[in-house]
Amino acid sequence: MTALGPTDPADSNGSSDLAAASADLSLAERAALGSGAGFWTTKAVGPVPALTLTDGPHGVRLQDDRAGKSDHLGLAASRPATCFPPAVGLGQSWDAELVAEVGRALGTEGRALGVDVLLGPGVNIKRDPRCGRNFEYYSEDPRLTGTLATAWVRGLQGTGVGASLKHFAANNTEHDRMRSSSDVAARPLREVYLRAFQQVVQQAQPWTVMCAYNRINGTYAAENRWLLTEVLRGEWGFDGAVVSDWGAVQDRVASVAAGLDLEMPGTGGTTDAQVVAAVEAGALDADAVASAAARTVSLAARARAGRALPVGPSDPDAHHALARRVAAHCVVLLKNDPVDGTPVLPLTAGRPLAVLGAFATEPRYQGGGSSHVNPTRLDVPLAEIRALAGAAEVVHAPGFTTDGTGDAAALRAEAVAVAAAADTAVLFLGLAAHQESEGFDREHIELPPEQLELLAEVVRVQPRTAVVLSHGGVLRLAPVTAAPALLDGALLGQAAGGALADVLFGRVNPSGRLTETVPVRLQDTPAYLDFPGEHGHVAYGEGLFVGYRWYDARDIAVTFPFGHGLSYTEFGYHGLELAADAEGIRASVTVTNTGGRAGREVVQFYVAKPGSAVVRPPRELKGHATITLEPGASGRVEVLLPRADLAYWDTRAGRWIVEGGEYEVLAAASSRDPRATARVELAGDELELPLTLDSTLGEVLALPGAAETLGALLPLPQGAGGDGTGSGTGGHGGGDGLGVDLARMMASVPVRRLVSFAGGAVTTADLERLLAHLQS
Ligand code: BGC
Repeated sequence: MTALGPTDPADSNGSSDLAAASADLSLAERAALGSGAGFWTTKAVGPVPALTLTDGPHGVRLQDDRAGKSDHLGLAASRPATCFPPAVGLGQSWDAELVAEVGRALGTEGRALGVDVLLGPGVNIKRDPRCGRNFEYYSEDPRLTGTLATAWVRGLQGTGVGASLKHFAANNTEHDRMRSSSDVAARPLREVYLRAFQQVVQQAQPWTVMCAYNRINGTYAAENRWLLTEVLRGEWGFDGAVVSDWGAVQDRVASVAAGLDLEMPGTGGTTDAQVVAAVEAGALDADAVASAAARTVSLAARARAGRALPVGPSDPDAHHALARRVAAHCVVLLKNDPVDGTPVLPLTAGRPLAVLGAFATEPRYQGGGSSHVNPTRLDVPLAEIRALAGAAEVVHAPGFTTDGTGDAAALRAEAVAVAAAADTAVLFLGLAAHQESEGFDREHIELPPEQLELLAEVVRVQPRTAVVLSHGGVLRLAPVTAAPALLDGALLGQAAGGALADVLFGRVNPSGRLTETVPVRLQDTPAYLDFPGEHGHVAYGEGLFVGYRWYDARDIAVTFPFGHGLSYTEFGYHGLELAADAEGIRASVTVTNTGGRAGREVVQFYVAKPGSAVVRPPRELKGHATITLEPGASGRVEVLLPRADLAYWDTRAGRWIVEGGEYEVLAAASSRDPRATARVELAGDELELPLTLDSTLGEVLALPGAAETLGALLPLPQGAGGDGTGSGTGGHGGGDGLGVDLARMMASVPVRRLVSFAGGAVTTADLERLLAHLQS
């Protein structure tokens, strides 16, 4: 039996006493530590206490684990908890400090409810707008996702409650999610789909990582040794426990061998017995069970230390106020055209207002499924608008029903009449809960037709119309731009109503930014032809070109670009300066509030590598900063664009490589609104690829002195290499009359083939000697 000795991870968490007390656990006890007691709890084994894990992530969804009241689909009731904006809304704040504050509040509530691990954040990339679970994820961009999720984990874990970074990995569709294989090439896997996980693991050390349901390139995440052990622990240094998604384990023995520590929910001991039997039969290494147990003990030790951390009381009023403040920061002003010389927003208190749409009284504020929170209270937009409207008359008409029932024509006619009689109309449109949820994907990205018909008629009679959108996944907004003003609320949590009222009346100046591109048509989206896959496989055919990377590379028009968001004031940028050092590129720029109101600007830094030797998107977000400025004031923002983030994954070397040379940095107000551009030189990483007999003639001839050495051995067409690209540099190297450029043709010939091309003049041994000589 392997002891849980002094090198166990528990030690590094200052909890060697628990590890020591667990050192003599039997094989059966160790196996028992590796699966749950019930739906939300682990087993108490010997000195190791039981733990409570619960959803999350935008509120604490604590169900009673006894009396069959548990389920992970959000059906059974849970204890009331503050419902903060789900990730789709929260991400639109682009504000790491605010996200950390939410993490702390969640931790405080978790502690009050006796929760040890909150199951979040979800950091899967929004690959396709149809994914039913996009509302639980932050963005189409890995850097933004990683930065916000890092803040969330730090905030949460600072209160003594652990995070569970999920769903690891490449879980980007709900369709067939428990079987389907995400077939992703190495570069997009590393550079897009794993990157946010890596950032959060390395910067925030989450207590747990939750492995996904799906397979990755054919192997279940829960059985994927490469993913769970080689990459997560070996390369990234993860020292926490790997937990399965609920029901993701189909072969516990294979999972333990791959690096899974905790199977959830419990299986009544069945799979514990399988683990014991496998060890006894010699089919599973006892050390794998001991390591998994050690990591579960370490998790328990972290939780025990967490329970002892002092945190303030969990105050529902204060958290509701926080939820409102946060939600207001997440609202994106997509459009605000002037009508008769004045922008439609903000609204003027005291003027007659029509508030239209069923969502004004039945707010859509969170998504369906395992993350569904039972809110402590719920702001109703209409009531919140009335509270800020002063003495003015505010008339409401639903205009449609959220379930599509009722006489649409009559409802529409009533709403249009109300709109025509008012000074301004605010129209709440969106998707109802049943139209998007965990567990299934959408088939389109359209708003319901009755809503679009209503909008068309309202703007015809009321030029001053502002539309407010509530939805979890991206919508086609081209028809909605018929309205002069457009606020995107995505999903904003229980205080959505108050937050939207704050923004509508200008109590809060909107400063949210889109975290996803709004395409003109579904057919323009990157994964259009490969989503949701078929016969158990999803081909990630768009490769690196996810989200704006795709639209920019193909120069496709979009309705609203990634990073877009307006304000009731305006900002100017100047004086972009760059400096490169060992840590990366330091970028700074001055921002001036040139308008008439205080406001917050989100300054985005995109990086391009002109003339890169590898395929790359035209520009990628590598950092951002926010600044709040009074009218007329200026301030300088400074960010580090970390060197590691500028690297691409080199598939030949199997590692990250920073290319040397000139980089271009754009300080921008959105991915399509660069305001200042500058260039800086960066020293590259050494990349010496071993030459083998399969190297091409062009690659060999790129080495200094190679042409002479090889030329002495056999005649070479002039210009058959030398620049390493195989493209030839010396003009036509023979072949005239055959209609070919012999030099270019030969550059792509693997050197081993020279044996036959040279008709016996050289042997394989000659070539091996030559390669060894050149490399030495
Ligand atoms: C979801 C997870 C969730 C778990 C527990 C699963 O279906 O994929 O995100 O944390 O259930 O409810």
